[in-house]
Amino acid sequence: MSSTSPHTPLLKLGLIALATSVSAGAPHSRPCAGPTNAGFESGTLEGWEVVSGDAFGSKSVVNVQTYWDGPFHQDEDFFVLGTAQAGETAVGELKSGSFRAGSVMSFLVSGGYDPDHLYVGLVRESDGKILLKQTGINDEAFLRITWDTSDWRGESVHIVIHDSNTNESWGHINFDDLRVGARAKSDGPGLTFNVLGQQVNQQSAGEEPACTLFEKDQLRPQYHYTQYTGWINDPAGLIEWNGKHHLFSQYNPDGVVWGPMHWAHAVSTDAVHWRELPVALYPSETENENDESGAFTGSAFSDSKGMHLIYTNFTDTNAHPDAVQETVIMASSTHGINFDLYGGNPVVAGPPKGAPAFFRDPKTFHDPTDDTLKMVIGATNNVDGQVRLYRASDTFSWSEVGLVYEGTDGSTGAIWECPNLLPLGDKWVLFYGGLSLGWYEVGSFDGTTFTSEKRGLLNAGPASYAMQWYKDESGRDLAITWMGNWPTPKWPSRPNGWAGQQSITRELFLREDGGLGHRPIAELDSLAIGKTEDLGRRKIKAKTHRLGSENVARLKLTVDLGATTASSFTLSLLESKAEATLLTYNIENKTLTLDTTNAGYGQPGMWEAEIAPEADNKLTLDIFLDRSMLEIFAGDGTVFSATVFPRYQESTGISIAAEDGEVILKDTSLTPLGSSWC
Ligand SMILES: *[C@@H]1O[C@H](CO)[C@@H](O)[C@H](O)[C@H]1NC(C)=O
Ligand SMILES: *[C@@H]1O[C@H](CO)[C@@H](O)[C@H](O)[C@H]1NC(C)=O
Ligand SMILES: *[C@@H]1O[C@H](CO)[C@@H](O)[C@H](O)[C@H]1NC(C)=O
Repeated sequence: MSSTSPHTPLLKLGLIALATSVSAGAPHSRPCAGPTNAGFESGTLEGWEVVSGDAFGSKSVVNVQTYWDGPFHQDEDFFVLGTAQAGETAVGELKSGSFRAGSVMSFLVSGGYDPDHLYVGLVRESDGKILLKQTGINDEAFLRITWDTSDWRGESVHIVIHDSNTNESWGHINFDDLRVGARAKSDGPGLTFNVLGQQVNQQSAGEEPACTLFEKDQLRPQYHYTQYTGWINDPAGLIEWNGKHHLFSQYNPDGVVWGPMHWAHAVSTDAVHWRELPVALYPSETENENDESGAFTGSAFSDSKGMHLIYTNFTDTNAHPDAVQETVIMASSTHGINFDLYGGNPVVAGPPKGAPAFFRDPKTFHDPTDDTLKMVIGATNNVDGQVRLYRASDTFSWSEVGLVYEGTDGSTGAIWECPNLLPLGDKWVLFYGGLSLGWYEVGSFDGTTFTSEKRGLLNAGPASYAMQWYKDESGRDLAITWMGNWPTPKWPSRPNGWAGQQSITRELFLREDGGLGHRPIAELDSLAIGKTEDLGRRKIKAKTHRLGSENVARLKLTVDLGATTASSFTLSLLESKAEATLLTYNIENKTLTLDTTNAGYGQPGMWEAEIAPEADNKLTLDIFLDRSMLEIFAGDGTVFSATVFPRYQESTGISIAAEDGEVILKDTSLTPLGSSWC
């Protein structure tokens, strides 16, 4: 199980010393000084003016450090907390004193995401025009936004903090530390901010190849699949058909938050280099703008009639009170690009009579026990998760077989989503999502009923949910997981116009201990650019050894545990003088711990898993770094997936340190990887 400790204090290395306070004074003689009290360190709204409403006032300036999910990450002590004066629902506007724009400015923002009603605005004094706007991200932890203001350099401007959102939840915006001029870009030498906000947002898709656009966005992974704009979650419809791998994603093109679900579509010849195709599935048309109906998760199969998508038609029963909430419908294509809805939909009209409405995520598989096409569907009896089984008699005719498996003690959740059932080696594997975690069970299946022998977590890290399996045309069992999860509010890429990412493609196998293992597919080797640095056999003593500086790379280590005398060793990844992701292997209890408490804008916490040493008493780690993404594959088949989102451009360091003795590394290599979009 995972454990988080979001309250560990941040090592604010150097930050406090470097942050010089902006002195009040005549802005005209100091073009880059910014407004008075730009970081609220007076503890008051001195220099700011309440323009309207009661959302802001003398109680708005606070110096609290943490909220329910961790640190605010304000600059120094004080900041404006949008709820402090009059709660979530209050509205109003706060305005800074006037100052001259330089060529760049930056500030911290957090709070609700609502581009029209919650924003920080840059206003030109001469005509009152709002030049730039930035909303929150549905998180209380601050992000630094950087604005290119060179078009207005020298002009008199001010900042407004605007709240016209009356929602009970995320109806507020927080603000801190406006910086104008050179200080806007960094916290001093060696700590240059990654750019979030308008400088990236402004580019429109289609102007440049994805390769260039994705490269420019400093937080954008280069080979983990992302959508250029919008929100994605579950991977769906995974299939290799006529030599091409297809990856669909649950997709909201109209915002960086979840919304009416479409299916985004991408194709690849190697399951590494994806190319976007037109949106494959749309939500049903609606007149009601609050209608959340959509094309939910599902799967793909092919036969002589073409390629078929079979998925959940989710109907928002608030907008359609008499409808069945979830049915199974199909869409087909003869060429794999455009999909036509089947005329006889739905193919399954809903859950069996009397069962709860929750009934989703059909996943097909070929069942060798009776040579038929079957599918599993996630369900519930309101106490335990359930998996229902259906059988096809032809492409569009499906009938219920029964309940293939259900929980008995609620310990993996009261509802199960995204089930997959597959033969693997001489066993069967059932995996599903419950309690916002991915679970697998290894056991047997007789064509009707699954019997579990062993249970475990699909992923030891924080950023994985809704994994989907598929068998490729060479017979390998491959899988892709959403590198995100529901409990986390961390989507720091929102200001850059996108949210959500898919994992690299992995191959599934049965581990030595009978559990489900993951290893990266061989095709990922094609991402290598430049030379692999062979770091050879090394003896690491207590002192920290630098292994390199890369953030789009693959690091492979083999540790000779027999010859190692240290009690533990720690790899420091995505490291600069202010932050790092730590990976510690404890040799005595064989535990690998991932620590992101001081790593960046991503989910802070600690996650651990026991890693069994391999043959010859060695430990291998195969680590994929992709700017903001981190995937760590241990030799025994354990994987940790995490979204880190470093704050600083210099956070690329890789080093290792041994504790109480020596670590013997053999076959260490560091390979720079390129973009899968180029
Ligand atoms: C929050 O407010 C916005 C507009 O101010 C509205 O469009 C949206 O539906 C509201 N969301 C909720 C969950 O109430
Ligand atoms: C989804 O279900 C709703 C409600 O039953 C129905 O109106 C709609 O046509 C269905 N959509 C599709 C694509 O079949
Ligand atoms: C293993 O040991 C380390 C260091 O003492 C400790 O932090 C960790 O919690 C231990 N893990 C387990 C599973 O015992």
